Formats: sequence, C-alpha cells, structure tokens
Amino acid sequence: MDAKTISKLVRKVPDYPQPGVVFRDITPLLADADAFADVVEAMSTRIEAHHARALVALEARGFLFGAAIASRLQMPLHLARKPGKLPCETVRRSYALEYGEDGLELHADAFAGDTRCAIVDDVLATGGTAAAAAELISALGAKPVCCVVLLELESLGGRKRLGEVPVESLLIDE
Ligand code: PRP
Ligand code: ADE
Repeated sequence: MDAKTISKLVRKVPDYPQPGVVFRDITPLLADADAFADVVEAMSTRIEAHHARALVALEARGFLFGAAIASRLQMPLHLARKPGKLPCETVRRSYALEYGEDGLELHADAFAGDTRCAIVDDVLATGGTAAAAAELISALGAKPVCCVVLLELESLGGRKRLGEVPVESLLIDE
C-alpha cells in the first residue's frame, strides 16, 4: 500500500483536542479491513528487518497495531500503559505531549534479559511518548531497536528525540 492511499484514510481534524492542533484520526483506516491488514503487514516487515524479538505497544492507539502485529509475527507483546493501569510492580516515565503531559509504565518483570524490542504506535509527533517507552525498555535491561509508526509528523521532531533508536514510518507528514 502506498503512502497516498494511507493518507486518504487518516482524517485531519483541525483544532482537536485543542486550538492549533491538527488531530490525525485513524478510525477511517481501522474501518477499512483491507487497508488495515496492508498496514499491519507493512509495519511487520519493518519490524522484522530490525530483528526485534518483542513488541512494546503504546496506550491506547498503539495497542491496536501492536496486537495485530504480535499475532502476525507470533511475537511477545508488552503494554506500555498510562499511570495506574498495570496491576503489578511497574517502572514509570513522565513526558510532555503536543497537547499536555502524561506518563507511561511498563511491568517491571516484562523482559527476561536484553530482549530486542520494537516500539509500536500510530503517530510519532514530538516523540515524547516513544522516547519515554525507549527509556523504560532500557531501564528494564532490554534494548529498543526501532520505533515503528503508521504516521510521523516530521515538523514536531520526534525522530531526533529518539536519538539512536531508528524510526520507521509508513507515512510522513509535515
Ligand atoms: C498519541 C499517539 C501517540 C502520541 C504521540 O497518544 O497515539 O502515542 O500521542 O505524541 P508524541 O510523539 O508527541 O508523544 P495520546 O497520548 O493522545 O493517547 P491515546 O492513544 O490514548 O489517544
Ligand atoms: N499525537 C500527538 N499529536 C497528535 C496528532 N496531531 N494527531 C493524532 N495523534 C497525535
């Protein structure tokens, strides 16, 4: 599937959730079964190229892609959740968003060793969320080997924020 086709299925919503933000709404893509399957396939291929052995999906929209890719690649799936949602011992990082502030947690026992992990999400904007996930993975002794997203908002500088963790995006927008 080419970038133009994906682009048509990601709706731009001006001034949501606050004035000045153009929200990228992925619900039309999710509602198109063939397109969603193609996107899952393309993201899976990028992840395989980095020899990842586990996935870390970011709440909430990252879960949709992460679960489908984990099933497709038969790979362990770990959930990076907003604070207070995981029931056992966790590690936490806070970060700034394009529209506010938030935090992410992983279960402290997620990884057995220096597992190669792919971070999976729908949108990379400032990179704050994905960078927090990369820090959590490293703090638990595993290795973030790539960050795979459907859409990268290039002007917000997320790729730079991720430093040495390579970013793979199916679609790049300004
Ligand atoms: C969105 C998106 C990414 C993050 C990207 O999640 O799904 O996780 O923002 O922004 P960043 O690169 O500036 O960190 P959001 O926190 O809105 O949560 P949601 O998926 O629960 O809607
Ligand atoms: N996450 C951060 N910025 C976003 C945007 N503009 N649209 C959708 N998700 C986002």
